[in-house]
Amino acid sequence: MEIRLLRPDDDRSHFDSGDTRLDGFLRQFAGQNQFRLHLGSTWVAVEGKRNLGFATIAPGNIEIARLPAAQRRGLPRYPIPILRVARLATALSERGKGVGNALLRCTFTLALKLSEEYGCIGVVVDAKPGAQAYYEKFGFLEIGCVAGTGAARPEPVEMFLPLELVRKASASE
Ligand SMILES: CC(C)(COP(=O)(O)OP(=O)(O)OC[C@H]1O[C@@H](n2cnc3c(N)ncnc32)[C@H](O)[C@@H]1OP(=O)(O)O)[C@@H](O)C(=O)NCCC(=O)NCCS
Repeated sequence: MEIRLLRPDDDRSHFDSGDTRLDGFLRQFAGQNQFRLHLGSTWVAVEGKRNLGFATIAPGNIEIARLPAAQRRGLPRYPIPILRVARLATALSERGKGVGNALLRCTFTLALKLSEEYGCIGVVVDAKPGAQAYYEKFGFLEIGCVAGTGAARPEPVEMFLPLELVRKASASE
């Protein structure tokens, strides 16, 4: 398995994560967001021409008040730089084989690079409610809902992993 940036000629039409919104994002928006609008980048896990999974990231920032109390110490009041994992999905057929972990670890490596070269205090994910436990295993802490609530379509939960735990998770590969 190779993890690399999405390329314009990658076939995204057959990817099936079991979540039509994630699949639709990959098919319709991931390319234009990366190649034309420069809003963020998508990293894909591939085997030959087969797309096993993807993670979409973008640099962002976070208000200090949203961080867990222990993480606020010594930080200034203006928005603080983070790396956001906006989407993460593994193809249904490839679940439980380490693809999600490999993609997430790739984002950790990128967050560490960002911290050294531009500034970044940790990783924020927009976790689908059913995926919260997945992120908790890495040490991510819940920091609130992304927007609103609704039983029919639960909103993602924002979770934060401070840089020292990003480093630890990267080192334990
Ligand atoms: C969450 C997701 C990315 C995990 O991908 P994956 O490739 O199957 O995960 P991996 O094989 O790398 O890791 C498997 C481990 O995570 C655990 N895991 C997987 N999904 C989980 C979940 N929803 N909650 C808790 N743990 C989960 C597995 O039990 C396994 O644990 P183990 O290593 O102790 O055996 C995948 O299930 C998925 O695409 N889900 C739908 C979209 C989604 O929820 N995305 C994330 C939120 S935006």
